[in-house]
Amino acid sequence: MNEHSRWRCGFARAASGSAALCLLSAASSASAQSATPVPRIESHDGHHALIVDGAPFFMLGAQVNNSSNYPAPLATAWPVLDRIGANTVEVPIAWEQIEPQEGQFDFTFLQTLLDQARVHHKRVVLLWFGTWKNTSYSYTPAWVKLDNRRFPRMRTKDGRDHGVLSAHGDATLAADKRAFVQMMTYLRDHDPQNTVIMVQVENETGSYKNPRDFSAVANGLFARPIPDTLAKVVKKRGTWSEAFGAQADRAFNTWYVAAYVNAIAAAGKAIKPLPMYVNAALAGPSNVPDPYGVSSGGPQQDVLDIWKAAAPAVDLQAPDIYDKTSANVVQYLDKYARPDNALMVPEMGNTRDFARFFWPVVGRGAIGFSPFGMDATGYANYPLGAKDLSPTTLDAFALPYAAVGSMMRDWARIAYEKPTWGVAKPDDGAAQSTRMGDWTITAAWGEWQFGMRDWAWLKGDAPPWASEPVGGVAVAQLSADEFLVMGDHVRVSFAPAPGSPANGIVVRVEEGRFENGRWLMSRIWNGDQTDYGLNFVNQPNVLKVTMGHYR
Ligand code: DGJ
Repeated sequence: MNEHSRWRCGFARAASGSAALCLLSAASSASAQSATPVPRIESHDGHHALIVDGAPFFMLGAQVNNSSNYPAPLATAWPVLDRIGANTVEVPIAWEQIEPQEGQFDFTFLQTLLDQARVHHKRVVLLWFGTWKNTSYSYTPAWVKLDNRRFPRMRTKDGRDHGVLSAHGDATLAADKRAFVQMMTYLRDHDPQNTVIMVQVENETGSYKNPRDFSAVANGLFARPIPDTLAKVVKKRGTWSEAFGAQADRAFNTWYVAAYVNAIAAAGKAIKPLPMYVNAALAGPSNVPDPYGVSSGGPQQDVLDIWKAAAPAVDLQAPDIYDKTSANVVQYLDKYARPDNALMVPEMGNTRDFARFFWPVVGRGAIGFSPFGMDATGYANYPLGAKDLSPTTLDAFALPYAAVGSMMRDWARIAYEKPTWGVAKPDDGAAQSTRMGDWTITAAWGEWQFGMRDWAWLKGDAPPWASEPVGGVAVAQLSADEFLVMGDHVRVSFAPAPGSPANGIVVRVEEGRFENGRWLMSRIWNGDQTDYGLNFVNQPNVLKVTMGHYR
């Protein structure tokens, strides 16, 4: 038994009194042999990569339901993950679960999660459900929930308790931080192979219908000038009201929630420097920035700069997307994909029509994507998500996951280095185009693989997917005239861009795969397979398209 496992036994035994737990921990530590570099996020020239085991990694994720953080429900997740081809599971670790009595920690479930994930060859993203879970204190231990003097709730303007813990509660921060640090210490000591690749700190922070704490302590801070660090970033000075006007309450709460989360993330990183992120309960684009209509304090799209200034230990801010209006999805993705913020979608609705948004996420050089509610416990969050995980629903995620999964490392490396583009079928079904170098690339929807819709001499039925919200494509530009293309339910065409050199043509289309970082062609697409564009329907094909100019 090594030092770490001895420590854990003593510690765990104090919490649970379980000798069996000690034996299990010794076995787990013994199997945790080869240390790998701790995952990190790298950025250059506006591109980002999640580095896992020393190389770029794309998270094909799946998040389990909220109460699946126990062994039996967790066991139902693995077949679902395998079915869609996910490489990573996002799982809550609740403060109430690891510290049911103050100062006594129990990491039994975390060890089960590590053990099961390794058996099933999955990586893990831990979701720390602490002070805030969908803004609420519901996942804090009873000794926190029941002690409002030590762990104060926010106060409303008219002096009532609000159902959210205050970001100005020093004791709450100290207690949350201590529990988080214990969790990170456990990871440091029991996960040398970095099964856990990222940690989400809290879950959807902020508060609804109360834009800030109106306690005496908070009011005192609110009357002071805004912090210098923030003043430099937002280029404003004075008190919160002077600097932010109608958004003052919200800006204030955002700063203090972000600073609170930062303190937790920084303390955790001091133990094990895993990438850490926060997720946003997005308001519809129309009620940002209504201070009473959003989860005030969370990392919504219009306050990312405040979070960046207050929380440098947080690597990225991420949108939870449950709004399926295609124009809104695009708007969210564009707001969170920034040179200083790697795009990752840690939650997306798990209905079939959400699956197509995988492609614009991938095409923006994201580091990961995850639908929510992906276990077979029988719980469904319809109408936010799917009524059930039917084969049709699962296939909608499995198909794009299979394409990227076939070249996951290669895609992550390419997206880190090269220009990429991705779109999903918009709600109005309009074709989508972009220009990459000398070429215009167009994605059209609802086409069979053969023929043109405007042919008068040959008419057929429209394909079933013409009237369905499915379809998307992602493209990487490998060199001036070479492109990697993947997609489903889409017709992709390449043409000379306006003003580009004359006589541009498609020279060659290869279907293939990557092996050891090198492209291997399996066949050339030609004739019917290219005469009507490149038609991706229900096969996870990866194509390499070479364009050129004849003389
Ligand atoms: C977003 C939250 O982050 C999740 O934990 C979950 O509550 C979903 N909303 C709704 O199912």
